[in-house]
Amino acid sequence: MQRVSWIGKSQIVPEDTAITSHLSIPSSFTPPEEDKTVLRIWGKQPLQGQVKVSGAKNSALVIMAGTLLCAGDCRIRNVPSLVDVSRMSEILSALGVKIERQGDTLDVDATHIGQSKAPYELVSQLRASFFVIGPLLARLGVARVPLPGGCAIGARPVDLHVRGLQAMGADVQIEHGTVHAYIKGGKQRLQGARIYLDCPSVGATETLMMAATLAEGETILENAAQEPEVVDLANFCRAMGARIRGAGTNTIVISGVPRLHSIDYSIIPDRIEAGTFLVAGAITRSEISLAPVIPEHLAPVIAKLRSIGCEIYTDAPNRLRIVPGPHQMATDIKTLPFPGFPTDMQAPFMALLTLSEGNSVITETVFENRLRHVAELNRMGADITVKGNLAIIRGVPMLSGAPVVATDLRASASLVLAGLAAEGVTTIQCLQHLDRGYENLEGKLRGLGAKLERDAGDANLSGAVPSSVVPSSATV
Ligand code: UD1
Repeated sequence: MQRVSWIGKSQIVPEDTAITSHLSIPSSFTPPEEDKTVLRIWGKQPLQGQVKVSGAKNSALVIMAGTLLCAGDCRIRNVPSLVDVSRMSEILSALGVKIERQGDTLDVDATHIGQSKAPYELVSQLRASFFVIGPLLARLGVARVPLPGGCAIGARPVDLHVRGLQAMGADVQIEHGTVHAYIKGGKQRLQGARIYLDCPSVGATETLMMAATLAEGETILENAAQEPEVVDLANFCRAMGARIRGAGTNTIVISGVPRLHSIDYSIIPDRIEAGTFLVAGAITRSEISLAPVIPEHLAPVIAKLRSIGCEIYTDAPNRLRIVPGPHQMATDIKTLPFPGFPTDMQAPFMALLTLSEGNSVITETVFENRLRHVAELNRMGADITVKGNLAIIRGVPMLSGAPVVATDLRASASLVLAGLAAEGVTTIQCLQHLDRGYENLEGKLRGLGAKLERDAGDANLSGAVPSSVVPSSATV
């Protein structure tokens, strides 16, 4: 049992203990404003070959949080090498968890959690780290996690996470920007509850599903998110002994168990990375194939690529090949929770629609501020008008390379894609966003024949193609 001390009128929290870091991953990051590195892309190079798709970022992050549920070792395979993953590793380490990385495998030992408070300076850099609140509370009976705050794409509140935990018997209060939660009434475990989510939030579904695995009794999550990463988390928890059914539908039922056991688990391929490479094929009119993928996870993206005139073939159960048609037509897109069109593919697809024949309308319904890439695409010659959450895209015959600034992760990807198709040189600044979510994007594109290079410093915007960016023959 944890030692506790009182904070305020009603909150008990364990006393913090000094933690020794066992982390073998870089522990500091260059502040974004100091990073002057640019990515320079020489456009109009045809692509060809095969791409290896990495493990899913969003699965990796939440499954790493989920390891807190198990008082033992967890081995997680197929973990992408990303800044966000390193940040989550740092957060787990700060909580007292032992974590080591070998290649794409993480060994996590959360037998002893020495801290119930996640550090603000780390949580503020990674919104997904708020998800530790569910497992921490379920495991320790107490959790203190700073509010992650808004981000470039919207306010992103956590009210659904908090209300769900309250329904499960937690006292949750926000003081000085930190969410303090503990299990009420001297109980050892959260209590199963029926929880209706106002919207099918991925993060809230994941937080509450994790919390419910160790609760007493049955929890029913209604209007739950159905994203593949939610299913992956459920499979991970089930492999540890959790009793969960219905993941992948809008009603998830979790029967709590007293404890979970060690596990060796491999995470799913990243459907957003795969979708980004499919768009890379389409926008450069190049035939490329990618594996491993789970084609059903890409159904809405494949449907839209087909509707603009691309052929998509399933060469093997886990391999897709795109063959762009001679003409690409406009199409309308509305972002929606899974199985609708993913908001994370909205920006990459917009780059493609700038070069498609006719007018397209994109409606962003998931996040309120996710059209900031429009101004940058317009600098490259696109013709896009924004009205509220609508982007009206009038197809143009060509884009021209320009200096542009990435505003968020998927916006960065859209600028890379536009740069691959544009005449001349595109120079992208603020690469810290790209590094959060795409493993070795440049290496993979170079393997397909793209010409691109990072330059740490100056912004010589019209440089000739250096020999070092002549594509290598290695494809991954
Ligand atoms: C996750 C993904 C992100 C993806 C998003 C939607 C991770 C690490 N990130 O983010 O890449 O774009 O799903 O597919 O998995 N909302 C509330 N209250 C809450 C929670 C959410 O109002 O308590 C709102 C959000 O502001 C947003 C909408 O619900 O407008 C969807 O957000 P959510 O599904 O929770 O996204 P994340 O889990 O943050």
